[in-house]
Amino acid sequence: MSESAIFRDRSRLSPRFIPEELPHREGQIQQIVHVFSGIIRDPDKFPLTVLQVIGPAGIGKTSTVITSTRRIEEQFKKNRLGLKTAYINLKLQGGNKYAIYRFLLERIAPTLPAQGLSAEEMLRYLLQYLRENKEYAVVVMDEIDYLIKTSKDTSIIYDLTRLNEFEPDKPCNIKGVVFIARSTEFYSRLDPAELSTLGRMSIEFNPYSAEQVSDILESRCNQAFAPRAVGSDIIDKVASITTSEEVKGDVRYALDLMLYAGNLAESEGTGRVNLDQIRKVHGQIHPSLTTEEIEHLSKPHIVSLIAVIKALKAKKKPYVELKEVRLHAEELAAQFGIKRMEVEDYLDDLKIRKLVDIRSLREIGLHGASLTELEPLLMGRIKADK
Ligand SMILES: Nc1ncnc2c1ncn2[C@@H]1O[C@H](COP(=O)(O)OP(=O)(O)OP(=O)(O)O)[C@@H](O)[C@H]1O
Ligand SMILES: [Mg+2]
Repeated sequence: MSESAIFRDRSRLSPRFIPEELPHREGQIQQIVHVFSGIIRDPDKFPLTVLQVIGPAGIGKTSTVITSTRRIEEQFKKNRLGLKTAYINLKLQGGNKYAIYRFLLERIAPTLPAQGLSAEEMLRYLLQYLRENKEYAVVVMDEIDYLIKTSKDTSIIYDLTRLNEFEPDKPCNIKGVVFIARSTEFYSRLDPAELSTLGRMSIEFNPYSAEQVSDILESRCNQAFAPRAVGSDIIDKVASITTSEEVKGDVRYALDLMLYAGNLAESEGTGRVNLDQIRKVHGQIHPSLTTEEIEHLSKPHIVSLIAVIKALKAKKKPYVELKEVRLHAEELAAQFGIKRMEVEDYLDDLKIRKLVDIRSLREIGLHGASLTELEPLLMGRIKADK
């Protein structure tokens, strides 16, 4: 049954949904599966393997790695072996090394209490737990570049890439560590020892071509939309927007565009999505701030971003001073019942997320002029969050 004349199942366009099929990433899936193909024969002898996946935003890195680890898990199952994947998104789960290892422990060994353990003890327990239970694990550290850029402690790289040296006389049942990053910029913040253990084994993901984006959208839209609600003219238009200089191949933006245009078609009662609706929605949403990115922002982050927008609008200038942003932030914080917030802390993070442009304390602006149009959307988000 369809949801409406337009949608069959709009949740299929959600950023959290991982489709069964990933057109044009089969090569990369096989490459990753292949790296671990020797494990099954003799898992205890298989060495700890560190892999990096590098490529720009929204081109299927996370989806591909998760699909690959699922396939590896299936191979294990077929051979009556147990493999767990511990996936951590460091932008979401962030925090310090301690919080990250506790999360790892919860994922892999939920019966072990993490309370009161040091970071090193947690790793030791984790390895011991896996050995005793005859289980294996692969750890996926997504958005490692974000963590390294925001944290002073980069030793997590050193720890995870040397898990096998932790207890050298015993097998290490964590067989793989996969780091996912948007670029290799974060290398510059690592020390030589970390850089060397990280190794050079990386799989590069290149942005999709317009034809490839069309194939991907076709496959996604078949699942999400009612038959005939989306024509090939729409798919091609969205594919060309997606591969433009402005969007840089971010498929997440393409899926947002399809979802919002579908909603519009529904409310306008046009029976199918038309090009005007695509253009209209494209003018209203912004490539650097997709629904997923907004969902990742905390309330004080959103308040800080709106404060920048409000200050810019009030001054009618491309840059404003920190004190002006602070005034608006205080007002908003009071309005939304946020007790104490240091707007500077959040601005730094928004800068790393490439939303806010900070040239100096007297020159704070936005990445992308049309972000100012997002104020209503952001306001809606904090109101809904109450
Ligand atoms: N080949 C594909 N087939 C179907 N959907 C895809 C494909 N590639 C990407 N997508 C979809 O596009 C969105 C972005 O993909 P994904 O999250 O894997 O990107 P990413 O490279 O990890 O991006 P980021 O660096 O921002 O984390 C997801 O909703 C994903 O389902
Ligand atoms: Mg990702």
